[in-house]
Amino acid sequence: MSSPELVPGLAGIPAAESSVSFIDGQAGVLEYRGYPIEELSAHSTYEEVAWLLLYGELPTAEELKAFTADLERLRVLPEALVSMVKAFPRTGHPMQALQASLAGLGMVAPKVDLKDAASRDEATRRVIAATPVLVALFERVRAGKEYVAPREGLGTAANFLWCLDGEEPDEVAAKTLDCALVLHAEHTMNASTFACRVVASTENDPYTSCSGAVGALFGPLHGGANERVLNQLGTIGDLSNVEAWFEGKSERKEKVMGFGHRVYKTKDPRAKNLQLLANEMFGKLGSTPKYDIALKLEQVVTEKLGSRGIYPNVDFFSGLVYEKLGLATDVFTPIFAMARVAGYCAHWSEQMLDNKLFRPGQIYKGKRQRAYVSIDKR
Ligand code: CMC
Repeated sequence: MSSPELVPGLAGIPAAESSVSFIDGQAGVLEYRGYPIEELSAHSTYEEVAWLLLYGELPTAEELKAFTADLERLRVLPEALVSMVKAFPRTGHPMQALQASLAGLGMVAPKVDLKDAASRDEATRRVIAATPVLVALFERVRAGKEYVAPREGLGTAANFLWCLDGEEPDEVAAKTLDCALVLHAEHTMNASTFACRVVASTENDPYTSCSGAVGALFGPLHGGANERVLNQLGTIGDLSNVEAWFEGKSERKEKVMGFGHRVYKTKDPRAKNLQLLANEMFGKLGSTPKYDIALKLEQVVTEKLGSRGIYPNVDFFSGLVYEKLGLATDVFTPIFAMARVAGYCAHWSEQMLDNKLFRPGQIYKGKRQRAYVSIDKR
């Protein structure tokens, strides 16, 4: 039998059967449980979308009310976890803090009975509820400020802003962030979702699985790109510099952050929606010079690389939106994570229902059957 050929990065190789979301990378389509994200981001809140991802259907008003109440209850962090996060080094990256915090959440939460649907539900809901509060808590800690506990009656986005500032969240800001969370909530078998499913496949709870996923999301080729896009726009600095900056990048064979995708070979539909969101918000709150630089950069990169299927991805416009909301650049990826935990948990649940341990093969290229050399002869 001939050995299978290596597919680098497992590109295009199915790792699971899933009914959580669907992408058509040529047409630029993304659906959660069959619903186009354009519809969901226009009409649904993040809580509705989290329910949809977890359970496959849009919630009824009654289901949503009970789910929202559950999330409010599970948002409240145990004192031991707050103390743990307060002890983190302030110089750490917020994604490192989040990865550790999710593992910590697992340490303080009741043990998950993987065979019991209610226990699994409670755990996935706790992850979705607590993640934004954990992100906000570390922001407070590193700013030397006191913890702001969640407030009742606020949705996920508004409560996150409340926990960050301890002030009544601005309505435009909360609505904008809610929409961004919807757009980031799920995205098929990307690197971090795959990581989540691999960790889950060893029969792990959602805390450990999502903590592993957050580690995978941190890197610049994945969620970490949104932070770098903003830094990149800052480095370009001026509209007149866009072309020269891009030529320099090309000569050095460096990638432009916020462009290209393993699956989309056209403009990422999330980028289109985030751009609409940015336009709407800038219309209300005033534009930013970086947005003009971004538009020019899109034009230049698309002209040069569009024929190779390289277009703006989700990370290209999200940072501009978050910056306008007054959020720190290195908290952009944790915001991606606090949205994406809904998708991770949906995949975790799917994995649990039909689990098979991930244990791929390899193509061995090393030496074999060597004669051992004792230390005095080396
Ligand atoms: N700028 C310039 N060239 C690029 C870019 C880019 N952003 N993306 C891909 N290419 C080129 C790459 O240099 C390579 O060229 P060559 O064949 O001459 O060596 C070719 O296109 C294929 O690139 P690849 O990296 O092997 O392809 P991939 O399918 O693994 O790419 C990607 C996907 C996202 C890793 C890549 O496009 C990239 O690194 N983009 C920049 C980082 C980024 O924006 N990441 C966010 C991804 S979307 C959100 C998320 O999933 O988190």
